Amino acid sequence: MKKKFYFGRVKSRKISKTKENNFKYFLKKNDINKLNLKKKVLLEIGIGMGENLIYLSKKNVKKNIIGVDPFKNGMLNVSDYCINNDIRNIYLYPFVFQKFINKFKKLRFNIIYILFPDPWPKKRHHKRRIVNELFLKKILKILKKNGKVYFSTDNHQYFEYVKTILKKNTKIKIKQINKIVTIKTKYYLKAEKKGNKINSLMFSSY
Ligand SMILES: C[S@@+](CC[C@H](N)C(=O)[O-])C[C@H]1O[C@@H](n2cnc3c(N)ncnc32)[C@H](O)[C@@H]1O
Repeated sequence: MKKKFYFGRVKSRKISKTKENNFKYFLKKNDINKLNLKKKVLLEIGIGMGENLIYLSKKNVKKNIIGVDPFKNGMLNVSDYCINNDIRNIYLYPFVFQKFINKFKKLRFNIIYILFPDPWPKKRHHKRRIVNELFLKKILKILKKNGKVYFSTDNHQYFEYVKTILKKNTKIKIKQINKIVTIKTKYYLKAEKKGNKINSLMFSSY
């Protein structure tokens, strides 16, 4: 049986035929297979509505920015923004990350962002969490030399769990970050509104 990697909604609002077609056009034009590999590549896993991806694209015009998420409304939000604002360095993959790394085996990244992954707070749902030991092993493998990963969450238990796994590996440098790692995404703002503490880590391999 095929392993399930996604437990959320793929769509939260109805998508018009025009938006669907624009998205298809965008994917064809900004094909990940045709990426200029001489440029630096930033990756965000779980882009949500894409606020960080858009921010990164403007701050790093000479770098490639890839966003991976099966959530279609977020993907369309970004592709519409790129089409309307002539943004050319964003590439989108509208499926799960697990599929992405199997498909693009040779891609290597300078920075990877994992911001507020679904926390699945109930113990019986912990196995649904995207970040686990195997996931961390995989993302460390796809980092370039001196590449780094940013991870933020407002779920204390999730944060401690990730830190514990990382600390088991002596070849990983970990730094706890006490300020915001990028802009305030939708889930950053949600956490802030609830008064939750936001914890962030930056890690990389030696
Ligand atoms: C809680 S939201 C956070 C969104 C955004 N990073 C933010 O800070 O606002 C988690 C996101 O991860 C996405 N996601 C869940 N499982 C995923 C997977 N296996 N691969 C890629 N994205 C995934 C969801 O669709 C959702 O958009």
